[in-house]
Amino acid sequence: MSDNVFRKKSIEKILQDAEQGFSDAEHTGPNALRRSLKVKDLTFLGIAAVIGTGVFTAIGSASYHGGPAVTLLFLFTAIACGFAAFCYAEFASAVPVAGSAYTYSYIAFGEIFAWIIGWDLLMEYAIGNIAVAISWSQYFVRVLAGFGVHLPGWLTMDYVSAHTGYLHAQEAISKGGSPAKLDAGMKYAYDAWTTAPGGDSIKLIMNFPALLIVAIISYIVYIGIRESKRANNIMVITKLGIIVVVIIAGAFYVDPGNWSNFMPNGFSGVMKGVSAVFFAYIGFDAISTTAEECENPQRDLPKAMFNTLFICTGLYIVLVLVLTGMSHYTKLNVADPLAFVFEDQHSKAATWVAGVISVSAIVVIASVLLVYQLGQPRIWMSMSRDGLLPKIFSRIHPKYHTPSFSTVVTGLVVAIPALFLNLDVVLALTSIGTLFAFVLVCGGVLMLNSDKKNDQYAKFKVPYVNGKYIVPLAFIIILGCILKFAPGYFTQLMTSEGVPMIIFLVVAIVVTILTFVKSYSLIPVLGLLSCFYLMAQESATNWARFVIWLVIGLVIYFFYGFKNSKLSGRI
Ligand code: ALA
Repeated sequence: MSDNVFRKKSIEKILQDAEQGFSDAEHTGPNALRRSLKVKDLTFLGIAAVIGTGVFTAIGSASYHGGPAVTLLFLFTAIACGFAAFCYAEFASAVPVAGSAYTYSYIAFGEIFAWIIGWDLLMEYAIGNIAVAISWSQYFVRVLAGFGVHLPGWLTMDYVSAHTGYLHAQEAISKGGSPAKLDAGMKYAYDAWTTAPGGDSIKLIMNFPALLIVAIISYIVYIGIRESKRANNIMVITKLGIIVVVIIAGAFYVDPGNWSNFMPNGFSGVMKGVSAVFFAYIGFDAISTTAEECENPQRDLPKAMFNTLFICTGLYIVLVLVLTGMSHYTKLNVADPLAFVFEDQHSKAATWVAGVISVSAIVVIASVLLVYQLGQPRIWMSMSRDGLLPKIFSRIHPKYHTPSFSTVVTGLVVAIPALFLNLDVVLALTSIGTLFAFVLVCGGVLMLNSDKKNDQYAKFKVPYVNGKYIVPLAFIIILGCILKFAPGYFTQLMTSEGVPMIIFLVVAIVVTILTFVKSYSLIPVLGLLSCFYLMAQESATNWARFVIWLVIGLVIYFFYGFKNSKLSGRI
C-alpha cells in the first residue's frame, strides 16, 4: 500500500482481484459474467467494431482532400495499428481481464496513468459512439426519405451544423441565390433552422434518431452477452457482404483515368484525412474488454485482433481504390460515399446497388455501436473494482449477467450528447483519444518487459528485434531527408499549429535516446512513434480540447479515485 499516485498493481494482484470478482457475493454463481466467446466471435466483434462510420461516411471527405493517395494513408495507419496490435495482444494474453488499456497501464505505469487512460478510453468509446450514432442517423434519415417519409429537419441534426448551414445559405442568398437553388446539404440545414421551434437566436434542434438507436442498442447490450453476440454476428455478415458487393460490382465501373492525378493536394492533402482514416481502424482494441467473457482469452484474443486488422486493412485498401476509381475524387465530399459512387454511374443497376448500400448501412453502422456500448461498461466495471469509481459501477445484473448500472450510464452518456453534438468535432476527439491509448499501450509493453518477473504471464510475446541501432539510424535518415528536401520545415513549426509536431519531435528524441541506451524492442517503439506522429497531425484546437478533457479527469481522480483506490493506504 502506498499513497503515491504512481502506485502500481502487479499482474498477480490483478488476476487475483478478477478471480475474486467472480467469487465474491456480488459476482458468484448466477451473477458471474458468462464465458461464451470463441475466436470466431471475437474476430466478428472486432470487424463489427472496426468497419462502420469510417468507411461508410468519413472516407468521402478524406478522399476528396487527399485523392487516390489516401490509400497510402490507409496503409500507413494500418501499419501503425499493427504495431499497437502486437502490444495489445501481449498485454491481453498476460492480463486477460476486462479493463483493456486501463488495466495494462495500471501494471506498467501506475495508478494515475491507469486513471488517465480509463478516462481517455471514455473518449474513445463513448465519444466515438456519439460519432457513430450521428452517422447512423444520417443514413437512416436518407433511407426514410427514399421511402417517402420525411422527418422534420430540426429533429435530425445538431445545432451547430444547422446554424452554420443556415449562415452559409444566407450568404449565398444575399449574393443573389434563391433558397430553392441552394445545394442539397445547405438547403437541408437552412430548412431545419428556419422551421425549428424557438426564437430567432435560440432554437430547438436535435438529432432524435441518434438518441433512438443508442437506446435500442443499449437495451440489447443490457439483456446479455449471448444476445449481443447473436445480434452482432448477423450484422457482421451483412457488413462483409456489402463491402464485398461494393468492391466486386464497383470494379466494373472503375475508370483508371480517375487515378491519374494520384496525390492532387500533396502530402498535406492526404494528411487531412488522418482523423477519418484512423477512426476507420478504431475498434480492434475493443475486443480486449471482453476478456472475461472469452472461453480462452490468452489464446484467442491475440488471434482475433490480428484477424480483424488483417481482414479490415485488405478490404479498406481495395475499397478506396475502387471508390476513387469509380468517381473523380473531387466529387467525393459526401456523407454517403459508398452509395454515392454507384448513383454517380447514372445507370439503373448501379442506382439499385446504391439503394441496397444505404439500407444496409443502417445495419452495419449499428453493429459498431453495439461493440462500444459493450466495451465501455466493462472498463468502468474494472475501474470500480479498483475503487477508482463507486462500487455500483461493477454491479452485475442477477438475471442478465451484464454490468447493469454501467451499461445504463453508458447509454445515457452517449445518447444525450448525440442529440446535440457535431460529427467532425467528435470524430477528431475520438481519434486523438484512441491514439493516445495506443501510445501508452506500446510504451507499456516496454515497461512490462523491463521487469523479468512479468515474463511468466504473457502467452503471446511481441517478437523482439533490438531497436538499439535501427531506431537512431532511422531517426537520423528522416532528419537528413527533411533538412535536404524541406529545409524550411522546422521554421514553419513556430506557430500555435506547430505545437503538436514540436511535442512529437521532443518525444521522438527522448524515445530514440532511451532505445539506444536500453536496447528497447523495435515493434513497440515503432508503434509508439507512429501513433504519436498521427496524433501530431491533429490540429492544435483538438489537442487543446483533449488536454481539457484530461484535466477534468484528473480533477475527478484527485477528489475521488485517489482516496478511494483499493491501493490507498487510507482505507
Ligand atoms: N472504426 C469504427 C467506425 O469506423 C469506429 O465506425
